Amino acid sequence: MVNDRKVAIVGCGFVGSSSAFALMQSGLFSEMVLIDVDRDRAEGEALDISHGTPFGNPMKIYAGDYEDAADAAIIVVTAGAAQKPGETRLDLVNKNVSIFKSIIPRIREAGFEGILLIVSNPVDVLTYAAMKMSGLPQSHVLGSGTVLDSARLKEALGAHLDVDPRNVHAYIIGEHGDSELAVWSSANVSGVPLSDFCEMRGHYDHLASEKKIADDVKNAAYNIISKKHATYYGIAMSVRRLCTAIMRDEKHILPVSSLMVGEYGLDDICISMPTIVGRNGVECRVPVSLSNEEYAELHRSADALKDVMSNVDF
Ligand code: NAI
Ligand code: 2OP
Repeated sequence: MVNDRKVAIVGCGFVGSSSAFALMQSGLFSEMVLIDVDRDRAEGEALDISHGTPFGNPMKIYAGDYEDAADAAIIVVTAGAAQKPGETRLDLVNKNVSIFKSIIPRIREAGFEGILLIVSNPVDVLTYAAMKMSGLPQSHVLGSGTVLDSARLKEALGAHLDVDPRNVHAYIIGEHGDSELAVWSSANVSGVPLSDFCEMRGHYDHLASEKKIADDVKNAAYNIISKKHATYYGIAMSVRRLCTAIMRDEKHILPVSSLMVGEYGLDDICISMPTIVGRNGVECRVPVSLSNEEYAELHRSADALKDVMSNVDF
């Protein structure tokens, strides 16, 4: 039995607690279970966040265990080590796969049948690991992937062009990490091709601007981590957006990480591509057209992930 009003979060550090705070404000759920190996941390966050409910939406928020999450509609996993300055997301793989081995089987044993949303890094590899370990249908396991990177891209383009970022349609695809790529060939602002809109706004050096913006997006996490040691508000809003798309069965197109089954010549790997997300999780991937160079870059990104995955014992 799945309770459509219940969500659970595993891992109550910066990302888990910020996501819980964002979900409390969303009004999507009336019950939220917080789980962490550090039980005091989960209890403290549950108390603190619940004190905001009189100003938001009535909601039961408590620290619990995997049995309490068994009937949740969504479990969000944010547990695990985070990057230290200078570390890449892929450097976390062994530590976090082994943490997942202590989490995902317990979710499975509890009889969970909802949607498993993976956020911990490296998110593509961990989404694949969670899919293998959980026994859930492929469509019920997805990673936040490049949803955050695409939000960063939209924000940067909105600022560059002095336009509402919600009118910017552009995606980062591939690994959520160093090999990600921007799909410039189809980027547009409310249907106007990006380079036409740039010229309308007085920007003519397209290649240089694209390179700078894509690099800034790729390095955003490194930049933030060097200044405040962690990133959490952007991902918390991404988690809220994803939970909204799922619970409201929006069929919204978001670049989540999910199992590729032959699309773009990719198989047996979780990687981000624009995907229709609804109440059943991953509904289908959207076949966005890529230039030859983008196609090759996507394959380079998948190869980088496969390389890391080949050394992981799932
Ligand atoms: P954090 O160190 O603040 O929190 C991690 C939490 O996980 C801690 O409370 C810890 O007690 C808990 N934990 C560790 N092992 C556990 C286990 N076996 N069971 C339950 N809980 C366990 O780290 P932070 O900053 O919250 O980051 C968490 C993860 O999210 C990292 O892997 C980070 O790289 C990732 N992240 C992913 C983003 C994305 O876009 N996908 C964005 C930002 C962070
Ligand atoms: C981020 O992109 C570190 O994956 C995390 O903010």
